[in-house]
Amino acid sequence: MSSHVLAIRLLLSLCFPLLVKPAPGANIAVGSVITADQSNREAAAWFSRSRLFAFGFYPVESNFAVGIWFVPDNTVIWTADRDSDLLPERSKLNFNEDGLQIPSSNGDRSIANISATNSVKLASASMQDCGNFVIQDVNNNTIWQTFDYPTDTLMAGQVLFAGNKMVSSVSATNHSSGRFQMVMQEDGNYVAYPVNTPATSAHFYWSSNTTGNGYTGILLYESGELFPITGYPNATQNSTLLSSATFLARIETDGFLRIYNISSNFMKLTKTLPVDDFGVNKCSIKGACGPNSYCNFTANATATAAAAAADRISTGFFQGEVACLCFPGFDFTDSRNPYMGCQRNFSMGQFINENNISYSITKIANISWSDDPYAYTENSTEKECGEFCFEDSNCYAALFFAHQRCSKQRHPLLYGRLSESTVAFLKVGSGEMQLPTQSPPREVVDVVPKRKTLFLIMALASALFFSVALTIFFFYKNRSPSYQKLCRNMETGLAGGLAPRSFTHQQLVEATDGFTKRLGIGGFSTVFKGEIPLNNGEMMPIAVKRLDEKLSKETEKGFRIEMRAVGRAHHRNVVRLLGFCHEGPKWLLIYEYMSRGSLATLIFPSDKTQALPSWKQRTNIAMDVARGILYLHEGCETTIIHSDIKPDNVLVGDDDTAKIGDLGLAKLLRPRQSKTFTRQRGTWWYQAPEWRKEASEPVSPKVDVYSFGVLLLELITCRRRFLGEPVNDCIILSELAYKCLMESTLELLVPEGEDVDKVELKKMVMVALWCVQKEPGHRKSMKEVVRMLGGKTSIAFPPDSVF
Ligand SMILES: *[C@@H]1O[C@H](CO)[C@@H](O)[C@H](O)[C@H]1NC(C)=O
Ligand SMILES: *[C@@H]1O[C@H](CO)[C@@H](O)[C@H](O)[C@H]1NC(C)=O
Ligand SMILES: *[C@@H]1O[C@H](CO)[C@@H](O)[C@H](O)[C@H]1NC(C)=O
Ligand SMILES: *[C@@H]1O[C@H](CO)[C@@H](O)[C@H](O)[C@H]1NC(C)=O
Ligand SMILES: *[C@@H]1O[C@H](CO)[C@@H](O)[C@H](O)[C@H]1NC(C)=O
Ligand SMILES: *[C@@H]1O[C@H](CO)[C@@H](O)[C@H](O)[C@H]1NC(C)=O
Ligand SMILES: *[C@@H]1O[C@H](CO)[C@@H](O)[C@H](O)[C@H]1NC(C)=O
Ligand SMILES: *[C@@H]1O[C@H](CO)[C@@H](O)[C@H](O)[C@H]1NC(C)=O
Ligand SMILES: *[C@@H]1O[C@H](CO)[C@@H](O)[C@H](O)[C@H]1NC(C)=O
Ligand SMILES: *[C@@H]1O[C@H](CO)[C@@H](O)[C@H](O)[C@H]1NC(C)=O
Ligand SMILES: *[C@@H]1O[C@H](CO)[C@@H](O)[C@H](O)[C@H]1NC(C)=O
Ligand SMILES: *[C@@H]1O[C@H](CO)[C@@H](O)[C@H](O)[C@H]1NC(C)=O
Repeated sequence: MSSHVLAIRLLLSLCFPLLVKPAPGANIAVGSVITADQSNREAAAWFSRSRLFAFGFYPVESNFAVGIWFVPDNTVIWTADRDSDLLPERSKLNFNEDGLQIPSSNGDRSIANISATNSVKLASASMQDCGNFVIQDVNNNTIWQTFDYPTDTLMAGQVLFAGNKMVSSVSATNHSSGRFQMVMQEDGNYVAYPVNTPATSAHFYWSSNTTGNGYTGILLYESGELFPITGYPNATQNSTLLSSATFLARIETDGFLRIYNISSNFMKLTKTLPVDDFGVNKCSIKGACGPNSYCNFTANATATAAAAAADRISTGFFQGEVACLCFPGFDFTDSRNPYMGCQRNFSMGQFINENNISYSITKIANISWSDDPYAYTENSTEKECGEFCFEDSNCYAALFFAHQRCSKQRHPLLYGRLSESTVAFLKVGSGEMQLPTQSPPREVVDVVPKRKTLFLIMALASALFFSVALTIFFFYKNRSPSYQKLCRNMETGLAGGLAPRSFTHQQLVEATDGFTKRLGIGGFSTVFKGEIPLNNGEMMPIAVKRLDEKLSKETEKGFRIEMRAVGRAHHRNVVRLLGFCHEGPKWLLIYEYMSRGSLATLIFPSDKTQALPSWKQRTNIAMDVARGILYLHEGCETTIIHSDIKPDNVLVGDDDTAKIGDLGLAKLLRPRQSKTFTRQRGTWWYQAPEWRKEASEPVSPKVDVYSFGVLLLELITCRRRFLGEPVNDCIILSELAYKCLMESTLELLVPEGEDVDKVELKKMVMVALWCVQKEPGHRKSMKEVVRMLGGKTSIAFPPDSVF
């Protein structure tokens, strides 16, 4: 040990004896022994000079622990190896050249393990009147002291150095490590939070907010104040530093830090941290109750008054009890220990299958929690708040505040408590919903109608938006006479089915029975079903999209540029544009008719009794979509980035062939160009993360790979990736998929009861996870995706950089 460190130890030892008188301790010579003995406490401890403190065996039930206690009050302030087994009566503690040893038949226990680390000769030990037990060498250097190893108590004059912590005890009689801690962080902040939680502000229930001031510790001053310090305490820093026992600060079993004046030989409370607006409500401590339970504090007026009368308390301390109660739908994890929290009485698997919704939303008044939400919405109504949570598979509970804020919470809820002026919504399992016949979800709040409408609007809006934009403007290149000429030249029927032909408006009126058979409606257009005669006299079904007559110049221009090459895309898995019509303000596009509609309506049916496509059909569709995208990326003379891949834009025909539609937002890359800056966006939750960044960030074909990954997950699970309002970077399905992959519970992903090939399922999920990588560079190319799906290449385990 360097002389510098020794010097510091010396400074710190003996309650800063340099400033004062000789060490106020009774010397204990090497070779001394004490014995655990219920009937002879004198022989079981070494006492300080004025007998304020004792070091030795203290009884715990019929056994013993080794520690230090404040003799007048029998308050334990330090315990050696607090989490190891208790010692039987007659155990011995030796102070020898190796430090403090407890001989035992199954191996000696060492309390102060000194000889192994220091080649020094121990000379003496002493129990100090300030509550520090020190061991010194022949030169009176402090070699070891209990002040360096705080448990739950800090004595006046003792420093809690950065990187150290105090941990509460289990109970007043059990001094093993309990549930709360106060940590002096290396950044100078000292904070209190439950043990086994991350050191983040979300879990702090008290913080000194002293980050960045260079503090290296906190010191409990003789005046009973707890202040941060820089460096090491010394005489000039504060002349009152020297202490006999005057104060102690303790993080207690209920999580509060309390400071007591002990100069009158009893514990007089002088300060409590934290103190909230209600005085001291024990439920304001995060972790007062376990996960999924809520805390109910009842102050005991009798006990409070009695304590006050005895001058045992002063500031804002209420005697009383905490009761922990499970949220509805939960049972205690350990019925004998309600502080451990609660667990669901139904399995997570039931949350996963959207066609077997076995949960409902229940409303509870006057419950709140202090967990950080993952998302919140302003200006919502109470009813909407419940709906938001119901629709979001990530949401486990929502909290509605009177000022119209709705915050959403994932599972588990850690810090629940009673409160006024909030309404909580919780997802709970409902036994009856598990019956196969009862398919529509039941909710306490009336959310179903709204939900359906939302879906419909979402689906239609997206479907129509892109399709409108789609191909039309490809032909719009010359609105002038030359365009008309082009139309005339092409008026030669469906020439080999390749080139789009032009139609007159009258022809389309006839083909669609006067635009009566409406297939869908969108923001910019309406789609009708129609029929046209082929050269051989047969009738061919078509889809006619009629654009709104008031299209903005901007939209027209964008499409004219972007869609130029798209009309030339001919592939089995890309929806074909058959023709168009442009007469004055009238714009119409004619597509091949896809009898089964969009993939979205197949895998997210609004009618829950509708059969889902089989696993085989879904894997075929996945391959079709992948091939279609690959064609767009690599099959044309220019690279086409679709940029709006999603189930609504995939159409399925009679023969179950899936085709990519709606190239309206597509981007064309010139040869050798690999990225574009064009910013027209698709639907946010299918968008690659790089696209949500600044406009200066170029996008590459990898954005389609990302969207395909999301689509693939939706296809595997028949669930929407996300059902609520936008939250930052919300990738729920991929998180779930990754978790299931890691835990080999992939069968949870597919619709309940579906029999799928496990190997194929794993392959699909791994491919999807390779596609939704956050970094474009980590994503596979579409070519690789097709190869992986086709089983032509082995698939490496995807990295977890999905989130
Ligand atoms: C004493 O300390 C040394 C070195 O840190 C360690 O290897 C040894 O296990 C310790 N002995 C006991 C009894 O704790
Ligand atoms: C150590 O302290 C004792 C008692 O305070 C004193 O008698 C002794 O001289 C000191 N030894 C040294 C080397 O300072
Ligand atoms: C003290 O609490 C710990 C942790 O809860 C437990 O393992 C131990 O058995 C308890 N000891 C006694 C004497 O109750
Ligand atoms: C630290 O900051 C939090 C949040 O601003 C505040 O609630 C708390 O009272 C502050 N703590 C202290 C000791 O000032
Ligand atoms: C601590 O308590 C004693 C006795 O009650 C009192 O004399 C003293 O002033 C108190 N100290 C402080 C700093 O309040
Ligand atoms: C005591 O602390 C002050 C202020 O931190 C410092 O300037 C001084 O050098 C220290 N003295 C000793 C002896 O360490
Ligand atoms: C020393 O401690 C006292 C009591 O807390 C305090 O009032 C005083 O400001 C401190 N002095 C310095 C220099 O920190
Ligand atoms: C909270 O505790 C009080 C007193 O024990 C009790 O009357 C009340 O019903 C409890 N509240 C809840 C919501 O459990
Ligand atoms: C209140 O505290 C007193 C004294 O500790 C106790 O006897 C009484 O049972 C408590 N009352 C309740 C309702 O807990
Ligand atoms: C779970 O608990 C809720 C409320 O206590 C109850 O209605 C439901 O039937 C329980 N579900 C199961 C599966 O036990
Ligand atoms: C909420 O409503 C208020 C008043 O109507 C409005 O000023 C505010 O912008 C709204 N906030 C949001 C996020 O819409
Ligand atoms: C719904 O889920 C439950 C629990 O997993 C299961 O017992 C039940 O058979 C499922 N019902 C249907 C229709 O799949």
